[in-house]
Amino acid sequence: MPMQIAHTRAEVRAMLGERRPGLVPTMGALHDGHLALIERSVAENPLTVVSVFVNPAQFNDPGDLERYPRDLERDTALIASAGADLLFAPPVSEIYPPGFDTTVRVGDLAGRWEGVHRPGHFRGVATVVTILLNLVRPARAYFGEKDYQQLQVIRRMHADLALPGEIVGCPTVREADGLALSSRNVRLSPEARRTARAIPRALAAVVAAAEAGETDARRLEAIGRAELHAPDIEVDYLAVVDGETLAPIARLNPGSRLLVAAEVGGVRLIDNAAVDPGEGEGA
Ligand code: PAF
Repeated sequence: MPMQIAHTRAEVRAMLGERRPGLVPTMGALHDGHLALIERSVAENPLTVVSVFVNPAQFNDPGDLERYPRDLERDTALIASAGADLLFAPPVSEIYPPGFDTTVRVGDLAGRWEGVHRPGHFRGVATVVTILLNLVRPARAYFGEKDYQQLQVIRRMHADLALPGEIVGCPTVREADGLALSSRNVRLSPEARRTARAIPRALAAVVAAAEAGETDARRLEAIGRAELHAPDIEVDYLAVVDGETLAPIARLNPGSRLLVAAEVGGVRLIDNAAVDPGEGEGA
């Protein structure tokens, strides 16, 4: 069956009826990370819906919204070839019709890290994801671990608001040199792209130190920061945190996470890694 395309809330509801599909919410500009989410949904559900919606409510910088890459024709072809059954590509007026006046706000979890640097960002994400979950009523919805804080914020609101289906976090897809795939990578100059390798290097250095037995979060952060010490890298934050609450921790615990955000050649990149306490000698 050829993939169907819906542009309105009513069309999605009519096309799905009582069926509970897999859902992959995206903002388009698809890369292999998105395709991995779609392929997983196709493997785990009889029906897969992919949404493409560049959500203005989650951009705190109008310039960033304007520059966000858009190519619906290319995205449509990729989504169809990955085996999805339904593409939902609504205009802004369909998600936020005249009179729209509701936002979903997650508390402390959304106020940290990205929440400090991008005020209002997670309110926009939480609001649009709530609308999508309620419209599509998926059995499972798939999100990448690359946006780790986003995934935790979505898990929190999903549990708190008893939203439908299950939230499935999927591993980050990386380039051969370790850089996490992101729709923003296309904006890196060749030089900035080379410099950006420092981010996965910093993650690897911290993970290796933890495996070797370092458990002190501040010392681990210093190891990560040393890798990012370069004139054209500006670190917004590099922090070892609790993997669920994202609160800073003093010592590693099972499930701790390293979160990084840095601007490289004017492009803001984020990444993260699991940092579990290792078997090595404690330092
Ligand atoms: O991760 C994204 O692409 C977006 O934040 C999402 C989840 C599709 C909501 O707009």
